[in-house]
Amino acid sequence: TLAVDRTRNGPEIGERMYGVFYEDINRAADGGLYAELVQNRSFEYAPADNPSYTGLTAWTGTATGGATGTARVVDDEHRLNERNRNHLRLDLDGTGGAGARYGVTNTGYNSGIAVEEGEKYDFSVWARTGARRGTPLTVTLHDASGRALAAPLRRTVRGDDWTKYTGTLTARATGTEGRLTVAAGGAGTLRLDMVSLFPRDTYKGRANGLRKDLAEKIAALEPGFLRFPGGCLVNTGSHQAYEAPDWERRRSYQWKDTVGPVEERAVNANFWGYNQSYGLGYYEYFQFAEDIGAMPLPVVPALVTGCGENRATDDPGLLRRHVADTLDLIEFANGPATSTWGALRAEMGHPEPFGLTHLAVGNEENLPDAYYERLAAFREAVEAEHPEITVIANSGPDDTGAVFDRAWELARASGVEMVDEHYYNSPSWFLENNERYDSYDRHGPEVFLGEYASQDNRFRNSLAEAAFMTGLERNADIVKMAAYAPLLANTGYVQWSPDLIWFDNARSWGSTSYETQKLFMTNTGDRVVPSRASSTPVARGPITGAIGLSTWATSAAYDDVRVVSADGAELFADDFSGGADRWTEAAGRGSWAVEGGAYVQSDTAAEDTLVTAGDPDWRDYDLHVKATKREG
Ligand code: AHR
Repeated sequence: TLAVDRTRNGPEIGERMYGVFYEDINRAADGGLYAELVQNRSFEYAPADNPSYTGLTAWTGTATGGATGTARVVDDEHRLNERNRNHLRLDLDGTGGAGARYGVTNTGYNSGIAVEEGEKYDFSVWARTGARRGTPLTVTLHDASGRALAAPLRRTVRGDDWTKYTGTLTARATGTEGRLTVAAGGAGTLRLDMVSLFPRDTYKGRANGLRKDLAEKIAALEPGFLRFPGGCLVNTGSHQAYEAPDWERRRSYQWKDTVGPVEERAVNANFWGYNQSYGLGYYEYFQFAEDIGAMPLPVVPALVTGCGENRATDDPGLLRRHVADTLDLIEFANGPATSTWGALRAEMGHPEPFGLTHLAVGNEENLPDAYYERLAAFREAVEAEHPEITVIANSGPDDTGAVFDRAWELARASGVEMVDEHYYNSPSWFLENNERYDSYDRHGPEVFLGEYASQDNRFRNSLAEAAFMTGLERNADIVKMAAYAPLLANTGYVQWSPDLIWFDNARSWGSTSYETQKLFMTNTGDRVVPSRASSTPVARGPITGAIGLSTWATSAAYDDVRVVSADGAELFADDFSGGADRWTEAAGRGSWAVEGGAYVQSDTAAEDTLVTAGDPDWRDYDLHVKATKREG
C-alpha cells in the first residue's frame, strides 16, 4: 500500500542528480572508450612502468619476400619531440626482391583489431628515412592467419625529417582478430613513431574520437554530469614510479600533459598498472561532456595521496604549481580564445567556452588535516579569481570512521559547499542504509556521492542499488549528485569489478546495474512526493529467500574469515587454504538452527538460503563476518 501525502511538497530533484564517473581503470581509455586501435602506438611502454612491458609490447617483427632487418625501440637525438622520446628504428638490409618488406605488426587489444566490412579506417604514421631515394612503405590490415582485411596502402617516405603520412583502409571483411603491419623495402634506416589506426565512424564523427558503441551507451544514460578522469588515478600514478626522484610529478595526473597535438602529449604509467597514452585527454573529456549534455566535473590532484597510501607532499613550490595549473585549467575550459589556455582550446577546435562550473580537488585522501590544509590553498585561489566555480571537497575513503568524521568536521568548519563521499558495500548494506541521508545536517555542506556500487554485478545488486537510490532522491535537498562506479571495464584487463558497462574489442553490454541507473537517470522526477509504503507478506507458510553475503577480504590480507549468526553460531568459515581470492568463492557448506524454528543453510558461497518454518512474519537475522588479519 502506498500512502501519498498530498499536503506536503518534497524536495526538488535537480537536473544534475545522476551522472557518470569515468575513470581510466580496467583499460577504460586505451583499448576502450578512446577509439585508437593500435596498442603502444608511440613505443613508450617500458619495463620500468610495468615489468611485463617492453617498447615492442603488442608489436612483433615481420618480413616478406626474403627481406631481413632489425626492429629496435630507441630513445636518441632523432626523437619525434621531447615529450615523445621513444621511436621505432628499422634497419633494413636491402635483401629480397623488389617487393620484399621488413617491418612490424601490431596486435591491438584483446583478440586483435576489430573491423567491420565496408567501414573506413584512417591510418597515420610519423616517419623519416636515411635512404637518399626514399623508402617504400606498405601498410596492410589482415587477420591472424594473414588473410587480407583491406587493400594495402603504399607510401614513400622521403627525407630525414619527421613527416606525417596518412591514408584510409576500407575493410573488405568483418573480423575481430585484425593485425596492422607497417613494413618497408630497400636498405637503410627508417624511423617510425605514432603508428595509428582510427575508425572513421567515431562518436559524433569526432577526429581523435571515441568508440561509438561505448559512447552511445554512456549517452543513453542521459548523465547530468561527467566526473573525470579518476579516482585513484588522479592523485597517484604508477606504483613503480613511487621511489623515482620526481615521484610527485609522475604519480599524479597532470591535465596539461593531456592536451595539444596527440604526438606531443605525455604518456603515463598509471596507478592501475598499465600505460595510458593521454590520447583521450582533457579536451576530449570536455567535448564528450558537451556532446552528451553533461556538466563537466574534473578532479585535480590534491598532493595528498589516498588509495591505500598515506603521504602528503610538503613542497610549497609544487603546491603553488598545482594551484596555478588549476587556475589554468579553468582558463582552458572557460577563458576567451584570446587567453593563453583559451587559445589552445580554440586551436584544438572549440573557440567557445566549455562552461565549467564545478571542479573537485583530490580523491579519497586518508589524511584529512593535511588534505583540508592544501584544499584551502586551492579554494582561496579559485574563489579569488573565479567565485562562480564550486570547489568540491571529499570525505576520504570510507563511509564512516575517524577519517570520515574528521573530514566532515573540517568540511563544515571551512564552509565548503559540497563533499564527495564514496562507498562500495554489500547489497544488504545498501538495503539497510536507505535512510543514511535522512539525518544529514540540512545546513550543509551538500553531498556529492561521487562513487558507489554494491559489490557484484547480479540482479540483487541492482535491486539493492535501486532501493538505495530512492533514499538519495528522498534527500535530494542535500544529496545533489550521485554516480555509480566504476563506469567501464574491458573484459581482458580487469582491475576492479563490478562495473557498469563491460566490453571487449568488438562488443559492449550493460550490467544489471546499468539498467537500474538508466531507469533512474532517464526517468528522474522534478520533485519528491512524500509517501509511505507498507505491505503484508504475500505467502503464509515457508518462505525461501536468498541472502547475499560478500566481503572484500583477500587471501593476501586475511588468514581466516568466518560468518556467525547473532547468537554466535558459526555459519561457515574459510581459511583461504584453497588460495581463493575472495572468501565467497571458497566458503564451505553447512547448516545450523537459529531461533524461531528457522534455519540458514549455506549451500553455495554467495547464495545462502533462509527458510522460515511456517512463520509468516519477517524476522531480522544478524549475520556477522569476522576476519582475522594476516600478520604483517
Ligand atoms: O572506482 C574505483 C576506485 O574506487 C576509485 O579509483 C577510487 O576513488 C575508489 O577507491
